[in-house]
Amino acid sequence: MCGIVGYIGKETNPQIGLEALKRLEYRGYDSAGMAVFNFEKKQIYCLKCVGRISNLEDKLSNSAIFGTPFIMHTRWATTGRVNEVNAHPHSDCKGNIWVVHNGIIENYQELKEELIKEGHRFVSETDTEVLSHLIEKYFKGNLEEAVRKALKEVKGTYALVIISREDPYKIVAASLSSPLLIGINGKEYLIASDPAAIVSYTKKIINLEDNEIATITPEKFFIFKEKVPQEIELEVEDIQKEGYSHFMLKEIMEQPRSLKHSQQGRILLEEGLAKLGGLEDVKDKLKEIKRLIIVACGTAYHAGLVGEYMLEEYAGIPVEVDFGSEFRYRKPILDENTALLAISQSGETADTIAALREAKRKGILTLGIVNVVGSTVSRETDAGVYNHAGPEIGVASTKAFTSQLEVLALLTLFLGRQREMSLVMGQRIAKEILKIPELVEKVLQTRSEVKKIAEKYKDAKNFLFIGRKYNYPIALEGALKLKEISYIHAEGYGAGEMKHGPLALIDKNFPTIAILTSDSVYKKTLSNAEEIKTREGPIIAIATEGNDEIKNITEDVIYIPKTLEMLTPILSVIPLQLFSYYMGVLKGYDVDKPRNLAKSVTVE
Ligand code: F6R
Repeated sequence: MCGIVGYIGKETNPQIGLEALKRLEYRGYDSAGMAVFNFEKKQIYCLKCVGRISNLEDKLSNSAIFGTPFIMHTRWATTGRVNEVNAHPHSDCKGNIWVVHNGIIENYQELKEELIKEGHRFVSETDTEVLSHLIEKYFKGNLEEAVRKALKEVKGTYALVIISREDPYKIVAASLSSPLLIGINGKEYLIASDPAAIVSYTKKIINLEDNEIATITPEKFFIFKEKVPQEIELEVEDIQKEGYSHFMLKEIMEQPRSLKHSQQGRILLEEGLAKLGGLEDVKDKLKEIKRLIIVACGTAYHAGLVGEYMLEEYAGIPVEVDFGSEFRYRKPILDENTALLAISQSGETADTIAALREAKRKGILTLGIVNVVGSTVSRETDAGVYNHAGPEIGVASTKAFTSQLEVLALLTLFLGRQREMSLVMGQRIAKEILKIPELVEKVLQTRSEVKKIAEKYKDAKNFLFIGRKYNYPIALEGALKLKEISYIHAEGYGAGEMKHGPLALIDKNFPTIAILTSDSVYKKTLSNAEEIKTREGPIIAIATEGNDEIKNITEDVIYIPKTLEMLTPILSVIPLQLFSYYMGVLKGYDVDKPRNLAKSVTVE
């Protein structure tokens, strides 16, 4: 949520910072701004805009602003409405100190009241503005000293980048529970909240850790602890659209590749085993686990629900799945045989992190399935598995979701083989997982059929998604995707629940997408679909190749190949991802940046 860029070095055209900031626009795009120190005039100039970074770029090209250092921000509004005044950077009373901030200052109201009493004048409704005034209060000529004193009074989370007119040739950066890194390229430094911003500039980075404050000048940087630069595992192509019109489509289409990466080197076919290096250290503890609690949010929560079916059926472990936002306020009953598994693409989702910390406080084993390497969830869990799905830029999660499902299948194999699962069953699951990338390639060939179906239904006002067992969470996921990308009202239901209420909605204008794959619950789901047909509801089916009878009750069918029942969700979700994508495009929406949303939800 929100993106930060800061630069200090020989370059004086802020455009290079804007190029980096654009790579973070998926994290927030309500408004944007920059502050630039001009050494000739000894002034800091600020530009702000509502809306996309391109508006800021237009403003910059119509101004003669240049200089170094400069700081920039793209905002996803939390405290304070979307307008120019609330956009970052925020300054102190005299325009000397400028701050960009990700995170949330929880005690900002108290601090603001105090500061107002002391004579500070506020202009915005944001929590961030208290930081610039607090730093002003302590500023006696040395910026990092003032920042250090100010942060002692602050409660909450932050990634901060700060410049000052009166201590000008430096940037001060600080972080607490919100990522911030320093990219190093000789005597130039680019500071950012996400590696995607700086990968085309340098691969040498330093991650700021919690409570660290860095001072960066053109000559050197100083952090409390001396740290060795790491190499980031990111290629420039990973964050480009590669000819696709949107990141969402690119990420849907690259799933054969991302799924291959997620399973690479992790399957021992002969032994029917999964080799998960990140779990090696805790494998003995995992043998003793009698219960698993999965916590996650949104799409990752749906992956957790599929995981529940997999782990209970094949590993024999009782599983409970909860939203991070609910678990953190429950009084869960945990014992030494319970483990918690946090699933998160970004590894920075505030509610998932809070749930994880609560479990740690209770002393139980914590695990993670995370895509972003080095993220908070990956650092704070005892052990875990990386997705290796590559960066996901589209706000709607697609390739990370299928990768989460694949990793959950690998985890099922790993834990199952520690328990009752036979060698033959292990080999069977391993063999089917290996085939997944190829089968996904096949499902992607339905792209133009899905597009035609989207054209046919583009004016529908509501949709129902139904499925059972492994495909119940996929019904939830299909509905979530459609809501977020095309702003159409959609509900996901367990097909068996239809006659307990939702069937009342059905008429000829209320289409249903039914996941009717040939599996252990096919006949049951089919009779639920027939009840819809009887009430004239149009049905679009996702069915298994070779099932011709389905055409008798459905308007449209998308066929997917046969696989093991527990792996079906990886295939059945793909037409639903494509459907929501095309619906959004047909309606003219920005599918990569749906309204009111942001990629990683770092606030509660
Ligand atoms: C929906 C979507 C969100 C995320 C959720 C959790 O398409 O992307 O529902 O799945 O915000 O995010 P992570 O996985 O980063 O914890």
